[in-house]
Formats: sequence, C-alpha cells, structure tokens
Amino acid sequence: MKFFACMLLCLSSLLAEDFITKMEYAKMLYSNPRGIGCNQCHGEKGEGLVIARYKEKGKQKELKAPAITNFTKENFFKALDKSHSVMPKYFLTKNEIEILYFYVTSEVNR
Ligand code: HEC
Repeated sequence: MKFFACMLLCLSSLLAEDFITKMEYAKMLYSNPRGIGCNQCHGEKGEGLVIARYKEKGKQKELKAPAITNFTKENFFKALDKSHSVMPKYFLTKNEIEILYFYVTSEVNR
C-alpha cells in the first residue's frame, strides 16, 4: 500500500513539471539558448539594447544590438543561420528558431 502511495506521489510531481506553457519554454530558450542568452544583447523582449559605450579616436561610440521584433520569419531564420561580426553563431534546430521567433514577435510579450 505504501508503495502505491509513493508511486502516485511521484507520478503527480512528474506530471506537474511537464506543464510549462509554450510561452514559458520560449522565454527560457531566449535567455538560455546553449550559449549566451539573446536577452543579454537584444533585451528581455527583443527590443534592442546598447551593449557597450566606448571611445574611438576621441569620439564617443555605441555598440548596439538591434530590435528583433519586426523581422519576417524568413529573415529571422536567415539571421540565425549566418555568421555575424558581434553576435555569436548558434546551432539551433528549426523548432528552436521557430519558438524564438514566436517569443520575440508575440503580442503577449509586449
Ligand atoms: C553578444 C551579443 C548578441 C547576442 C548574445 C545575440 N545577438 Fe543577435 N545581434 C547582435 C548584434 C550586434 C547584431 C547586429 C549584427 C551584428 O553586428 O552582429 C545582431 C543581429 C541579430 C538579428 C538581425 C540580423 C540582421 O540580419 O540584421 C537577429 C534576428 C538576431 N540578432 C537574433 C538573435 C537571437 C534570436 C539571439 C539568441 C539566440 C541573439 N540574436 C543573440 C548581438 C547579439
């Protein structure tokens, strides 16, 4: 009897952990995509950020990561597939890119 009670408990805790929403998963992936989080450069919601300010030949300069909320899906995929000067190259699956796209373009996110 004890055994069954335990099984039931384990099972219910397992099930509870499975219920994260698509949005929660998307947010997790956005801030932890096997590499430096997109949020660190593009902002929590993809709104864009100034990553660094520095001086070059006496002139004040800024290094910015652009807003990424208004790309077409095609261009978003292309951007994640090529090498950039500042942005690291990621090796994400189609599904992962799809869900990141969902995250940064989602209305709930605004
Ligand atoms: C180290 C900072 C950094 C990180 C981390 C980063 N990016 Fe970027 N991203 C940039 C910068 C800077 C650009 C502008 C192009 C360039 O110079 O690399 C850019 C450009 C882009 C673009 C547009 C590219 C274009 O063609 O204009 C997209 C889309 C994008 N990033 C998505 C992401 C996603 C999604 C992630 C996470 C998987 C991510 N970035 C992580 C810095 C970053």
